Amino acid sequence: MARHNYKIRPAPKWEDGFFLPATPIPIAKNPNDWSLIEGLQSIQALARNAVEATTLYSMTDPCAHAHGFGTRIWVPGDPDIIRHLFVKNSSHLKMQPIRQMLLRPVLKDGLITAEGKQWRRTRHLLAPVFTPRNTDGFADAMAASTEAALPELFGGEAQVFLSDKMLNLAYTVLSDTLFSGEIEEDTARVLADIAQLLNLLGRPNPMDMLKVPAWIPRLNRMRGLRAVKRVRAMISDATDKRMAAKARGEAVPDDFLTLLINSGDDDNAPLTGDEIEDQMLTFIGAGHETTSRAMTWMLYLLSQDKERRAKVEAEVDALDLSLPAEQWADHIPFAMACFEETMRLFPPAPIISRELTADVQYKDREFKTGDAVMINLWALHRHRNLWDRPDAFMPERFLPEARGSIDRFQYLPFGLGHRVCIGQRFALKEAGILIALIMRDYRFDYASDVAPWPKMRITVQADNAMPMKVIRR
Ligand code: HEM
Repeated sequence: MARHNYKIRPAPKWEDGFFLPATPIPIAKNPNDWSLIEGLQSIQALARNAVEATTLYSMTDPCAHAHGFGTRIWVPGDPDIIRHLFVKNSSHLKMQPIRQMLLRPVLKDGLITAEGKQWRRTRHLLAPVFTPRNTDGFADAMAASTEAALPELFGGEAQVFLSDKMLNLAYTVLSDTLFSGEIEEDTARVLADIAQLLNLLGRPNPMDMLKVPAWIPRLNRMRGLRAVKRVRAMISDATDKRMAAKARGEAVPDDFLTLLINSGDDDNAPLTGDEIEDQMLTFIGAGHETTSRAMTWMLYLLSQDKERRAKVEAEVDALDLSLPAEQWADHIPFAMACFEETMRLFPPAPIISRELTADVQYKDREFKTGDAVMINLWALHRHRNLWDRPDAFMPERFLPEARGSIDRFQYLPFGLGHRVCIGQRFALKEAGILIALIMRDYRFDYASDVAPWPKMRITVQADNAMPMKVIRR
């Protein structure tokens, strides 16, 4: 068999009552034994679709490692090693240069890309914005925004591309909580710009991997940067208007933008206009595509596993929608287990990569300054040493009674340590609300003979935008 198996697309299958979606066959040959040609092929595969470049080695070894692009790269698959590196030794990690090269020109000092003093200041100022009280306070707005959007998204057409609809919905919900709908631009136009922006963030350029100097232009980047400029202008316009309204003493909405404008405390100056722009762009980049991809995959998995779909439907039908929306997720445990299991199989933000700034010892293993450490959630979440039936959709493992047997550091959809996702609670509340409102009224049946194929960009998405027949329940 060829070392790269990307041309072989195995069909999805059933095993003992569990659905196994179609996924690439992991590369069997250990990367340390690759020839030069195979190494170059892997750069191509990484740029095209990194899921297809996953090796069996990274899914079976406690700490796979290989040399790539002149650096030693570790891919830990053992929760204890992950804890040791990312929690006990977090002060010896910095963001990996290739990641920063992709993200920083776009997100600048946004929380995801800030480092050192700037990151500490921003995280400190944003912590009060993302308290449970504030996050839960957004739940009713999220529910209202979802309810208003659903008829237009799913009411008209018999068949839809679910990926597009979910992106639209998640962006609408996020933008309503960020700016309270005070964005004048047309949603479709903004979404097209954001799609270009995310494409720019999510596609490692082979020139970057080969360390070609930054001053040599990457053509795919220029078009994306024009889209970034337009999105930034939209944010700064909304911020200026809000600040002016506040200065005039007018009542302003209780949303993320107002919280950011009101940031600051005795020891820390409030966020500046430029910092607010960076954070809002970061929230847009980090906060809607992730949730929408997970929702899309979940609805696909349930379209195949009709028994479990019926269980989720029974749960959402029994949910009392007069309860505050912030509580909905707590009342639909099986649905939320499906959501978590979906993020295991199709992690929305699959790569957590860092570089070591000091030597670190773990038992007899030596991690050296300059080594790259990359948690590949695709491999970790399907690691053969850690999971029973790693490739199967088995939501029951996330039910409260079973969950205790999952190590905190073997399942990391929201990252870990001090750089754990700041929007985790927001995302889970939102997922509960979307599932409840969508699945109460609509059912989706997969509408193609060819199974969706996972494609890794900045998120893990379906290569065919997920065609679905919409059935009004
Ligand atoms: C299902 C939804 C989401 C998933 C799976 C997700 C996943 C992640 C992951 C894995 C990280 C860590 C990245 C790293 O360490 O390199 C992260 C960080 C981050 N996320 Fe999320 N995220 C989600 C939703 C959100 C939302 C809704 C927001 C904001 C509204 C958000 C904002 C952020 C920010 C600002 C960071 C950077 C935190 C820091 O470095 O201090 N995310 N997210």
